[in-house]
Amino acid sequence: MKEWTKEERYRVLKDPQELWGMHEEISKSDYRQKFHVQPVTGLLNDPNGFVWHDNKWHLFYQWCPWGAVHGLKYWYHVVSKDLISWTNLGVCIMPDREYDNKGAYSGSAMPIGDSLYLYYTGNHRDEDWTRRAYTCLAKLKDDGWVEKYPLPLFGPHDGYTEHQRDPKILYRKETGKYYILLGAQSKDHWGRVIVYESEDLLHGWNFAGELTVPGFEQFGDMWECPSIERIGGRDVLIFCPQHLKIAGRGDSTNHNGYILGDMDWEKLVFTPLGQFHVLDFGFDSYAAECANNVQDEDKAVLVAWMGLPDSSYPTDEENWSGCLTLPRELQVRGRRLIQQPLPALKQLRDMEINLNDYQIGDVAWLPRVCEIALYCRPGDLDLNLFTKADGTGGLHISYNEQTSEIKVDRSEMDNRFNQDQGEVRVRYLEDGLTHLRVFIDRSSVEIFVNDGDAVFTSRVFPTEAEENFMIHGEAFVRMWSLQTAVKDTLVV
Ligand code: FRU
Repeated sequence: MKEWTKEERYRVLKDPQELWGMHEEISKSDYRQKFHVQPVTGLLNDPNGFVWHDNKWHLFYQWCPWGAVHGLKYWYHVVSKDLISWTNLGVCIMPDREYDNKGAYSGSAMPIGDSLYLYYTGNHRDEDWTRRAYTCLAKLKDDGWVEKYPLPLFGPHDGYTEHQRDPKILYRKETGKYYILLGAQSKDHWGRVIVYESEDLLHGWNFAGELTVPGFEQFGDMWECPSIERIGGRDVLIFCPQHLKIAGRGDSTNHNGYILGDMDWEKLVFTPLGQFHVLDFGFDSYAAECANNVQDEDKAVLVAWMGLPDSSYPTDEENWSGCLTLPRELQVRGRRLIQQPLPALKQLRDMEINLNDYQIGDVAWLPRVCEIALYCRPGDLDLNLFTKADGTGGLHISYNEQTSEIKVDRSEMDNRFNQDQGEVRVRYLEDGLTHLRVFIDRSSVEIFVNDGDAVFTSRVFPTEAEENFMIHGEAFVRMWSLQTAVKDTLVV
């Protein structure tokens, strides 16, 4: 694995031409995605500034151009009309000021008039590498012009450690105020959310206090990317508690999850209704962000980084890493969130694969970019993807009727990675297994169970020999090859 020097990681991108050769090589990779947002070169991590504005969806991602390494971060901009096809627009926020000299870190967007206001963390480091995190503002006009505010909105709060970041901008009708939520770390190293408020988006931001979340005072040592969404008459606190072990998730200490509850914006108390749930039961999902202005009160749209901090992936060697998940529709059902693929995804279907002759237990060819729908009858089920011609190996999805558990196991793939984080994920299904929808891109699998009851999102890097599937159990299966929805064009 390449060792990066600080100079290499924090090198400033001066001319897009510096990336031409690298992008040309990367675009030949067998693992380049066909319908997921992915970096033109280098590393992609969190989605940022997800919003509907000027007749399109805007989405940005954390981008480090030079390779699969966390270094100097830019905001890279992509747009879409339908959340399915995406166009690269290039860099939007550059870390070119003293206050963001070591990165334009994560944040969110608010549309006003003909502009998007982008709230982000300026990751400043001084010569002795001491970090100060500033909450900064940039305005993106509809004609593409980006104007940074000369000074940050505010600096770090003395009551917390250097870890204060990821502004989520919100407006609440009930108080008539704007709020910025920041992920933070208390001085005794517990994860917190701190809140700033103002009546004006641009000025007068004051520290309003710390969010009280009874029962979660000692739950991870830093909370990254917090937000509070209002979905189906409930408040949902979504965040990434760090350095916390969760049963069934291997040695992984980075999780993205949520708590349903009720938010009191006057008192800044979030009263949980139940426990912390992970958002995604798969291996690779983090830093999810909900679009800021979805009008439907019962639904939200969420997208996440299909990757994890402190992890490496087989494409690191090819100088790129990470992609975004498919956007998903979120709804509240009972005391949980359910996540469904967007209805418009059906437009991506290209050809239906004829499975009339497929007999349960056969090994058959699996298209590399496809959707599978399985309608399951009672009983155990095995869906093995990416098996070899003799049916061995691959990614195993299995349901055990006796325990009512669905299991995803990637330990038999040829390319194994992040093994310390566990290679098996299990989820108990209250109502048994009725339905699976699986989206396979060239290096990812997203499994939606029972219409959104659970989702397993994972990167996979199949070799040439891993090109088949096999089903055991009683199920009716349909399969479609899918069209390309992202163009691998280098726009910087
Ligand atoms: C989460 C995160 C954020 C930070 C960003 C930097 O993955 O660590 O807290 O703003 O990534 O890229």
